[in-house]
Amino acid sequence: MQDLLKRIDDRVDECIEQLAQFVRIPSVSAGADGDSAPAIQQAADFLVEHFARMHFTAQKVQVSADTNPLVLARSPGFSNDRPTVMVYGHYDVQGVDNPRSAWDVDPFAAEQRDGYLIARGASDNKGPTFAHIKAAETMLQADETLPVDLLFVIEGEEECGSRALGTFIESGGLDEYAPFLCTVISDTSMYGPDRPSLTLGLRGISYFEMSVHGPKQDVHSGLFGGIVHNPNAVLVQALAGLYDAGGNIDVPGFYEGIEPLSNREKQLYDALDAREEDYVRELGVSALRSEEGYSLLEQRWTRPTLEINHLSGGSPRTVIPAVARAALSARLVPGQDPAQIEALLQARIRERIPQGARVEFAHPHSSPAYYLDIDHPLVAPTLSAIRQGFDCDALITREGGSIPIVVDIAAKTEAPVLLVGLGQITDNWHGPNERFCLRDFHRGMRTSAALLHELGRLS
Ligand code: BES
Ligand code: MN
Repeated sequence: MQDLLKRIDDRVDECIEQLAQFVRIPSVSAGADGDSAPAIQQAADFLVEHFARMHFTAQKVQVSADTNPLVLARSPGFSNDRPTVMVYGHYDVQGVDNPRSAWDVDPFAAEQRDGYLIARGASDNKGPTFAHIKAAETMLQADETLPVDLLFVIEGEEECGSRALGTFIESGGLDEYAPFLCTVISDTSMYGPDRPSLTLGLRGISYFEMSVHGPKQDVHSGLFGGIVHNPNAVLVQALAGLYDAGGNIDVPGFYEGIEPLSNREKQLYDALDAREEDYVRELGVSALRSEEGYSLLEQRWTRPTLEINHLSGGSPRTVIPAVARAALSARLVPGQDPAQIEALLQARIRERIPQGARVEFAHPHSSPAYYLDIDHPLVAPTLSAIRQGFDCDALITREGGSIPIVVDIAAKTEAPVLLVGLGQITDNWHGPNERFCLRDFHRGMRTSAALLHELGRLS
């Protein structure tokens, strides 16, 4: 093992150079950046060629004409007699118009500053996924036969609903690689700088957009104000009805059935030193909101939320607009059913739409929360691999974000998903100046190699 880690240490600069090439491909799948279809194909091709050079059997899988291709690659000598370790990641990235002027650098120039690679997708999720690829490559270069059979599944639609991969998994696309030992994913964050962690759980999500329709076109508010419903007013009243005065969710049934946190986990999270002042500073606010009875980390990781992600309607003139729009998403925790939550929220909104106005819902997508039992036998070997890779202690955490496909992967492979994040919560995911700490890239490669050895010992 020491030999292998040394080999990784010796080639880290070369790996960083190749990662820079990968992030220079502007493979945007979400956000209004115009047509990035060629870049999507280019990113998928980049990966296929990379895997082919590693003697993996790699292919681009076009599930349907209107979806982005999957990249599937299995290791040389792959056999169905050994359990498969799947590594999942995504090559698609968010848009850069958030706003574009807020970026200090060209988002796709892959500049390096103070030990960080600054680029859209550097941390979410090209860098962390690439760490696993380069670890496997290094193991093969060392004339090691891999200790497990490896299957990489890298999709191009994580940021916009994972449609192709969802269909692929649903229709049995993974069956030929069974049996599975586990899936490894590095698309979460570390607890903090130099504090790597195994993430046991992710929140689920229920997202939808809505529009409230009033008069057939914008009309003068002096001429018609008072006799026609204003869609903006109807919308904000309907949305206000979803919250109580404390900002908690006031929808009957929303909090029902939530599985409580075990004492063991609660103690672990209480022992982490989450400090309100740090978040206040990082977020640039004067105080945090809080849900009574829950610690800061419990709220971030184990409590459901409802966010209004977008609002629009009318213009700054004296009109009554024809239409008002919103996008909403609830983050869900174990015990909540996404379909039921969507129905509850939409019913509650409908109740508050008066006659003469009309509400429409659109673009719903959802996924349940994911949770790995803290006593699962793969927890200890994963923590051990993180310790070897990072040369420090490994923590147990959860996360508040969602990777919608995780629950489908766990169900279809009948195997746990190990979430080993390599990013930081300060990496500016989805925002301007996204960055990835190159020291974590290096330590992530080491962790990946150590994990394959740990898993090989078990299988
Ligand atoms: N890498 C994130 C998931 C994530 C976010 C994990 C925060 C841990 C903490 C992923 O790329 C992502 O952004 N997912 C979306 C999914 C959504 C569009 C359905 C999310 O969480 O908003
Ligand atoms: Mn991601």
